[in-house]
Amino acid sequence: MRKKVIAGNWKMNMLPDETIRFIEELAPLVKDSKNEVVLCVPYTDLFYALLTAQNTNIKIGAQNMHFEESGAYTGEVSAKMLQAIHVEYVIIGHSERRQYFHETDETVNKKVKAAFQYDLKPIVCVGETLEQRESGETEKIITEQTQLALQGLSNEQVENTIIAYEPIWAIGTGKTATKEDANNSIQAIRNKIAEIYGQMVANRVIIQYGGSVKSSNAKELFEMPHIDGGLVGGASLKAEEFSKIVNFEG
Ligand code: 13P
Repeated sequence: MRKKVIAGNWKMNMLPDETIRFIEELAPLVKDSKNEVVLCVPYTDLFYALLTAQNTNIKIGAQNMHFEESGAYTGEVSAKMLQAIHVEYVIIGHSERRQYFHETDETVNKKVKAAFQYDLKPIVCVGETLEQRESGETEKIITEQTQLALQGLSNEQVENTIIAYEPIWAIGTGKTATKEDANNSIQAIRNKIAEIYGQMVANRVIIQYGGSVKSSNAKELFEMPHIDGGLVGGASLKAEEFSKIVNFEG
């Protein structure tokens, strides 16, 4: 049985004092969860989040990183730097980064490799635009993005990569993929992984759904056989709402 991973992606929100208060409120609400609880916070909140989450079951992640270890890359943060402060997870290739910051399948692949080099668990985002969906390209786009992101990784590394299927038209729009559509897309991703790395590996990869997940739809989505939890944006900014998503079993 695969574990469910429920990760919050705060995007460019929350200040250090808000981070501390949020985690203090969230910790008792999720302490008995059998699901993995992750908060991916802005760089400036990481240190506060890590300190406040000590002795809780909440894991902390970053939202991006550079693929080089160090050097003349003004404004960038490396996997080595994240590891040094004990960050555990990192989101790679979020559609907002692909769209606004020229992230490509190639940089995503380099970042995934760098993450493993420094023992970070990558959460790799894939997803189609509305246009691609309407022209029937969803499966092709998301399986290609997955294949390119994982290129050159060992079977063990692939097993330890989390994929987040986030249809771009569902992000921040209030529109959620139907549970059947989300499950089918995730199954297509899993089948592609099976084709390349074998069924055993594919059965172990955690594949989340993201895009307007909230407490009112988490249960129906996360109970689908291929959906192993979620990557949650807007609804991860309120501790009580996020805790209900983490505790979706009721
Ligand atoms: P929303 O949950 O706000 O739609 O955002 C999804 C997302 O992009 C998570 O990475």
